[in-house]
Amino acid sequence: MATTGKISGIVSNLVTISVTGPVVQNEICYIMYKDLRILAEVIRIDKNQVFAQVFESTRGIKTGTHVEFSGRLLEVELGPGMLTKVYDGLQNNLYGMENLFITRGLSSPALDVDRKWGFKPLCKTGDEVSAGEWLGEVQEGWIRHKIMVPFRFKEKLKILRIADEGEYNLKEIIAVVKNDKGQEFSLTMVFSWPVKRAVRVHKEKIRPYKILETGIRIIDIFNPMMEGGTGFIPGAFGCGKTVLQHTISKHADADLIVVVACGERANEVVELFTEFPELDDPRTGRKLMERTIIICNTSNMPVASREASVYTGMTIAEYYRAMGLKVLILADSTSRWAQALREMSNRMEELPGPDAYPMDLSAIIANFYARAGFTWLKNHKSGSVTFIGTVSPAGGNFKEPVTEATRKVARAFYALSQSRADSKRYPAIDPIESYSKYLEYDEVRQQLNTIFDIQWTSKISQLMSILIKGKDIKDQIGILGDDGVPVEYHEIYWKSEVIDFILLQQDSFDKVDVSTPLIRQKYMVDLLLSICAQNYNFDHYEKVSTYFKKVINILKQLNYSEFQKSDFTKREAELNLLINERKNIL
Ligand SMILES: Nc1ncnc2c1ncn2[C@@H]1O[C@H](COP(=O)(O)OP(=O)(O)OP(=O)(O)O)[C@@H](O)[C@H]1O
Ligand SMILES: [Mg+2]
Repeated sequence: MATTGKISGIVSNLVTISVTGPVVQNEICYIMYKDLRILAEVIRIDKNQVFAQVFESTRGIKTGTHVEFSGRLLEVELGPGMLTKVYDGLQNNLYGMENLFITRGLSSPALDVDRKWGFKPLCKTGDEVSAGEWLGEVQEGWIRHKIMVPFRFKEKLKILRIADEGEYNLKEIIAVVKNDKGQEFSLTMVFSWPVKRAVRVHKEKIRPYKILETGIRIIDIFNPMMEGGTGFIPGAFGCGKTVLQHTISKHADADLIVVVACGERANEVVELFTEFPELDDPRTGRKLMERTIIICNTSNMPVASREASVYTGMTIAEYYRAMGLKVLILADSTSRWAQALREMSNRMEELPGPDAYPMDLSAIIANFYARAGFTWLKNHKSGSVTFIGTVSPAGGNFKEPVTEATRKVARAFYALSQSRADSKRYPAIDPIESYSKYLEYDEVRQQLNTIFDIQWTSKISQLMSILIKGKDIKDQIGILGDDGVPVEYHEIYWKSEVIDFILLQQDSFDKVDVSTPLIRQKYMVDLLLSICAQNYNFDHYEKVSTYFKKVINILKQLNYSEFQKSDFTKREAELNLLINERKNIL
C-alpha cells in the first residue's frame, strides 16, 4: 500500500511531513488540499520526518493536511510529439493551457495520446534488444523519431511481436517483448524516465572531438565548442547572455535544440513564445520551432520548478541523443537554479557553504554537466548532447561559488566582459579571458586543421598574439599618452582593433552578419592575417588611426554583404585599393 503522511510544518515552499511508511529520496508526493493534488518532491528524509519541496504555492495548506506518496520519482514522458512544444519545468504543455501560468493543482498532458503517428518497424520478431535500441520510427516534424526500448530495462529482451507499418496512437501497443525469466511486457511508443537520473543506454561515451559550428566567429575561431561538449557564459547583468544564447540557438549546427529558460523575466519568456514560432531556420528553410523544444520557468513560478526544469531539459536532450541526433541544450540562467537550491537548503537549516549555497553545490553542478557528452550507441551510430549554460554572477564577480563551481566542470568558458558590453562590442565575450580546453586535445587540433587548413591552429595563435599585444599597448598608451610610444606600437594596436571589430564583434541584429559559416570564417582569418602581415610605415600616429578606421569601415560593410555576391566583391575591391595605395607609398 502506498505510504501516506500528514503535514507537520510549512516554511514557504518547504513542507515537513510525518509519515508512517517507507519513502525514498526524490519520491513524488501529493498534498491533498481541498480537491487539489499539489505536487511535491521529497528532498530529505529524517527517520519518520520527510522534507518535501512543493512545486506550487503552499497558500492555505494547514498542518495535518493529508499527503499521498506516489512511489515514483519526478519523471518526464518521452515519446513523439515533444518537438515545437513549450513546457514548464514539470513538463506541463504550456500551449495546452489557457494562459502562460498554470492554475494551481492542475497539469496539462505533455504528449497528445490520441494523435496518430505513422510507425515503421526497424526490427522483427525474434530479435534480441535492450534499453535504448530502436524498435521502429515515426516522422516527427523533420526528424525520424526512433521508438526505443524503454530505458528502464536492464536485461536483454526478445521481441515476441512488433506492429506492422501503419498509423498508431500513443496508447496502442507496438511491441511485446519477453525477458529470460519469461516475463512479458507490452510496449507503446511512450515511456517515462526519472529526470534526475542520467540516461545511460549508449555503448560508450568518448572525449568530444568534432567542432559544433555556432556561426559566431569569436566562438568558432578562437574558442570552439565541440559536439557533446560543455560550455558556460558568465556575465554580469545586461552583458548579453540571453542575446548570445538566443543567437546560438538559432544558428548552431544541431539537429535539435532544447532551450531552458530558467527563472528569467516573464517578458523574455513571452518573447520566446511569440518570436520563436515565427523564425525561419536559416539551415533548413523550415520554421526554427520545428527543431526546438522550450522549457520555461519565469521568476514568478515557485523556485522548485526552476530546479526541475534544467533536469527535464537534460533528460529530453538525452532521449533524442539516443536516437543518434546532435542535440544542443542551452540553459539561461543556471544561477537561478543554484539560487533555488540555496533557498531550499536554507529553509532546511542545513550547514551553509560559501555564500550560503549548499555544501554540495559543486557536486550537483558537476553531475549535471557530466550528463552532456558524445556517445557511441549500441548500433555504432553516434549521438551527442552539447550543453551551454549561462551564469549570472552578482556584480559580475567571477569568484562567486556558482561561477567557480561551473568553471571546474565546463570545458569552454565564454566570459562576458562588462567593459566590452559598455562599449557595445558585442558579443561581449572577452577574447583573452575566455578559453576552450578542447583546443588542448590533439584530435581536436587535427580536426580543425583538416576542416580549415593545415596551418589553422597556428594562424589563430598569431591573431591572438596581436590581440594580446594590442591590449598591452593600449594600457601603455593610457599611461604614457599617444606620443609616449613609438608609431609602430600604434600600428600593432590598430591591427588588433581591426581583428576586434571584424572578427570578434558580430551584429546579432544583421541578417548576414548574425551567423558566419566556417568557410567564410576561414576566408576572414586569411584576409585579416594578410592585412596584419603588412608593414605600413606611418610617420605619425594620427595617420595610423585615420587609415585603419577606413580599413575597418570597409571590412564592416564586407561583413554585412552576402558572401561572394556583387556587393561583397565591390567591398573587396575597395579594400584592395586602399591597401595597395599604401603599398605603393612604401
Ligand atoms: N550581440 C549583440 N548585439 C547587439 N546588441 C546586443 C548584443 N548582445 C546584447 N545586446 C544588447 O544588450 C542588451 C542586454 O542583453 P541581454 O538581455 O542578453 O543581457 P543579459 O546578460 O541576459 O542580462 P540579464 O543579466 O539581465 O539577464 C540587449 O537588449 C541588447 O540591447
Ligand atoms: Mg538574460
